[in-house]
Amino acid sequence: VQWTAEEKSAIQSVWQKKVDVEQDGHEALSRLFQVYPWTQRYFSSFGDLSNPTAIAGNPKVHAHGKKVLGAVGNAVQHLDNVKGALQKLSIEHANELHVDPVNFRVRLGEVLVVVLAAKLGNAFTPQIQHAWEKFTAVLVDGLSHSYH
Ligand code: HEM
Repeated sequence: VQWTAEEKSAIQSVWQKKVDVEQDGHEALSRLFQVYPWTQRYFSSFGDLSNPTAIAGNPKVHAHGKKVLGAVGNAVQHLDNVKGALQKLSIEHANELHVDPVNFRVRLGEVLVVVLAAKLGNAFTPQIQHAWEKFTAVLVDGLSHSYH
């Protein structure tokens, strides 16, 4: 994938200046579980996810959100080789966790963009949105790579 200088800077500067891996990770994962409740089925070990309060207060959701955004951050640092940066995780999601890749495609990328949009408000310009939509598509591609 080719990035323009503007796209790279839109992704990296938002990441560095605005993203709080712990808080935004928790927010993104909480949204995933509430908006797409069927994604909870992969997380039976997390305990109570039955309502928004339970999700918000669940320490495993918190810890896992941070892990997930940590991986996204690693991809942000490797924009020219996102696939390589995600290779191990892709294998893990495919072969060990058996997560249907449909869940990457429209779910996690989508809630992440929504979290950023809500956080940035007017600063989430169409250019920034474009760069992040492209980045989340590349992310999903990288994560889906080991599925066959
Ligand atoms: C585990 C990242 C999407 C289900 C993980 C881990 C990371 C990660 C970093 C921890 C791996 C480890 O500790 O070795 C991501 C990223 C995603 C994504 C970057 C998309 C952008 C999803 C989706 C689902 C999912 C959409 C299911 C709906 C799981 C499960 C685990 C896991 C079940 C294991 C959780 C546990 O029991 O600790 N993921 N993930 N992931 N992921 Fe994902």
